[in-house]
Amino acid sequence: MDRTRFFIRVSAIYALIGAFIGSHMAGSGGYEFRAVHAHILVVGWLSLFAFAIYYKVFQIPKTSKLATFHVWTAFIGSIGLTAGMWLYYVQPFAGSETFNLVFFIVGGSILMISFFLFAIMTFVHGKFITEE
Ligand code: HEM
Ligand code: HEM
Repeated sequence: MDRTRFFIRVSAIYALIGAFIGSHMAGSGGYEFRAVHAHILVVGWLSLFAFAIYYKVFQIPKTSKLATFHVWTAFIGSIGLTAGMWLYYVQPFAGSETFNLVFFIVGGSILMISFFLFAIMTFVHGKFITEE
């Protein structure tokens, strides 16, 4: 898999959805989507875009398991966090409060793991991260 192309495409879709939700909030005057909008854009669009550029600029080995785990936890965690926020803050389905909360926590935790793996990677694969 091409990690840069994957993240660029996913981040572009997040940007589209995030901007749409922002426009909807501005138009409707209802702000229950604020946290969802903010995280779709700062996590889905900006952070995943940054990861796309990271894999383009630095020659992180394709065989790196750490990088593979990072890519998938970032992808799954960003969906888990934003969908979980939607369930938790917007409460679209009545009577599923516990499920919504657990979904939000698990999604956010997977995203946390991805940022943790990213930090580890900057040290483990440090020799590939250089301005040379
Ligand atoms: C179509 C473009 C956009 C529209 C119409 C829009 C609209 C809005 C609205 C109405 C709010 C709620 C403001 C409030 O609570 O008073 C908001 C919040 C926010 N937006 Fe957007 N937005 C857009 C694009 C973006 C982009 C591109 C980003 C970041 C990359 C972004 C990041 C945020 C953040 C972080 C907040 C939360 C701010 C806070 O809680 O103080 N928005 N946006
Ligand atoms: C790792 C998982 C994360 C969790 C569980 C999380 C959770 C939250 C929560 C609960 C809020 C308060 C929302 C509200 O009540 O309105 C918040 C606000 C915010 N977070 Fe996160 N966050 C996470 C990651 C991130 C990341 C990675 C970024 C930036 C790249 C970010 C940027 C923001 C911003 C800008 C706000 C203020 C916008 C708002 O008021 O909604 N968050 N976050």
